[in-house]
Amino acid sequence: MQKRTLGSQGLEVSALGLGCMGMSYAYGPSDETECLQVLARAYELGIHFWDTAELYGPYSNEILLGKILKKLPRDKLIIATKFAFTFNDKGERIGLDSSPAHVKKALEGSLKRLGTDYVDLYYQHRLDPKTPIEETVGALADLVKAGKIRYIGLSEVGPGIIRRAHKVHPISALQTEYSLWERGVEEKILSTLKELNIGFVPYSPIGRGFLSGKIQKPEDLDKTDWRLTNPRFQAENIKHNVKLVEMLQEIASQYHATPAQIALAWLLKQDEHIVPIPGTKQMKYLEENARAVDLALEDQAWQSIADTLGEFKTAGMRYSDDNMKSIDTTE
Ligand SMILES: NC(=O)c1ccc[n+]([C@@H]2O[C@H](COP(=O)([O-])OP(=O)(O)OC[C@H]3O[C@@H](n4cnc5c(N)ncnc54)[C@H](OP(=O)(O)O)[C@@H]3O)[C@@H](O)[C@H]2O)c1
Repeated sequence: MQKRTLGSQGLEVSALGLGCMGMSYAYGPSDETECLQVLARAYELGIHFWDTAELYGPYSNEILLGKILKKLPRDKLIIATKFAFTFNDKGERIGLDSSPAHVKKALEGSLKRLGTDYVDLYYQHRLDPKTPIEETVGALADLVKAGKIRYIGLSEVGPGIIRRAHKVHPISALQTEYSLWERGVEEKILSTLKELNIGFVPYSPIGRGFLSGKIQKPEDLDKTDWRLTNPRFQAENIKHNVKLVEMLQEIASQYHATPAQIALAWLLKQDEHIVPIPGTKQMKYLEENARAVDLALEDQAWQSIADTLGEFKTAGMRYSDDNMKSIDTTE
């Protein structure tokens, strides 16, 4: 597996990471034994950059990773996790807290669940409007000094916050949604990252599965699946959005590839400091996605993609109004 570097401090990661969220959260039922096998196979394939968060479960995704970390050489893996939310006793999300005291407490919980004494990349998952970013990053810098985290990341924040944070301590990566159907970061964020030499980790790179072509209507999702609440997957919107996948399918068939591979290859081509983290709990998808790193398309195919994107407008917001409240990438 090829490698890429995130940020000015030189965090080296596999060119493709593994999003672990869906193994425990949001995307319907999963099988723990199969998830552990997928993680072990990711390790064999050289996909060593694993993405989790306290929120996923909550907690159970970090516990799952902790089970396999015991069996693998810790120093070969780059483990990224995230803090930001507060939860009640039932595990329901009740607020945001990035105060220094909370950051330090959240990290202790993550370390315990992961069964490790350091996290490689620790992200703020969502901005806390009550805590200035300088205070949060100051606390993270203390954790770097203490050897409990190696690198600092942010998620879903805008250029102003990125600049303020980066003045306190170098930020190694921003993680925000980016894919063929969600290109909001192209407006201002990617240029800010380039200028500051901060890496970019696009989440939901296969459009939460949509760009694979396997989800064509809401009924294709399990009834417990969070995506049923996402505007883009609602009946009228998905019917329109499928047109983008049809174009991907056409190009994919010319290259003996799959639409998911084209979606990943397109992201990898945008910049050498972009590292997508496709999520899967299935072995066949993991192996298929890994092959996207070596997919070579001709200029003509990239041009057809660019032409289609020029004309296509995704229907539906990427989150419900309620979820959008904790995101402000304009600041
Ligand atoms: N920072 C944030 O706020 C944030 C938000 C969302 C996600 N994330 C992170 O980003 C990671 C990736 O994002 P994501 O999981 O939302 O979306 P994604 O990677 O775009 O898509 C995941 C979905 O696609 C399916 N899939 C994966 N490969 C496939 C293939 N080759 N063919 C067909 N279907 C395929 C998976 O199915 P199966 O589940 O059946 O394998 C899963 O349902 C997450 O795991 C999480 O770590 C971060």
